Amino acid sequence: LSEGLKKQGIKGAKFSRVHVIGAGVMGGDIAAWCAYRGMSVTLQDLDMERIKPALDRAKTLFQKRYKKKREVEAAMSRLVADPQGTGVSRADVIIEAVVEKLEVKQAIFSGIEGKMKPGAIMATNTSSIELERIAEALKDPARLIGLHFFNPVAQLPLVEVIRSRFNTDEEIGKGASFALAIGKSPVVVKSAPGFLVNRVLMPYMLGAVERVEKGESKELLDAAAVAFGMPMGPIELMDTVGLDVGKSVATELGHSVPGESRFARLISEGKLGRKTGEGFYKWEKGKAIKAE
Ligand code: NAI
Repeated sequence: LSEGLKKQGIKGAKFSRVHVIGAGVMGGDIAAWCAYRGMSVTLQDLDMERIKPALDRAKTLFQKRYKKKREVEAAMSRLVADPQGTGVSRADVIIEAVVEKLEVKQAIFSGIEGKMKPGAIMATNTSSIELERIAEALKDPARLIGLHFFNPVAQLPLVEVIRSRFNTDEEIGKGASFALAIGKSPVVVKSAPGFLVNRVLMPYMLGAVERVEKGESKELLDAAAVAFGMPMGPIELMDTVGLDVGKSVATELGHSVPGESRFARLISEGKLGRKTGEGFYKWEKGKAIKAE
């Protein structure tokens, strides 16, 4: 991949400070990954309580990956909770990973646009919203690119670098170099609802959810997908992604989630999957509990 990028004239750039907005499933894990790969990271959310679980998960990642205690401590000191967003003005890269709502993302980017360093990367981790719609809120829409990470961040190397019609090679090149700098595999794709992977993945997941709604066993369905060669089945994946996020992406892609469905009911009961301890499956210590 890096050879391919070089051929396209995409050169390495230096990055040392990353600011992540949104400390949920994705933002927390992106921040932890960047700190693990040596970046100084500030992590912002609405309050400290929402940042704390992300710091705990980061510690677990560092403990798994590093042998020495002092390496874990050094990585923890590179990851700083920043509820006020003071890191924005110093960051070389800003990654937004808040809820999948257009208005929230637009408000965040228009709020930080004037505070960022010139030349810093401004990226969204949106999984489905067309970039142009978010960029419309900016004075300079060319600044915004997509850096779309995949869940679980520490295990999946792919990062879709999303190019909107406003971007030039410069922003896209920087985004791809940053992904390489943190040890990920960037693939440049055009902005379209769902981009590349989710456009293909969402109908597969929703198809499986529909079978479960019709009475098929979720355990059997997931086992079949694994036997087919998938690393995890589609229902377990939906729980891992988060049912609320899955619904937003599905809606963005033009699929409907009927109000009377089990999917909709689980969401209204706050059973959002792995992150809340229950979705289609019950979850314990990061593992889905499956019937024999
Ligand atoms: P999440 O619900 O776990 O976390 C969202 C976080 O954003 C929450 O902690 C919330 O407090 C915070 N937040 C909301 N408004 C905020 C604001 N104004 N300022 C600062 N923080 C704010 O959601 P998740 O799953 O991490 O998704 C985040 C983004 O990443 C979404 O755009 C989603 O589409 C995308 N994504 C999700 C994936 C997944 O598997 N869950 C995979 C790839 C992308």
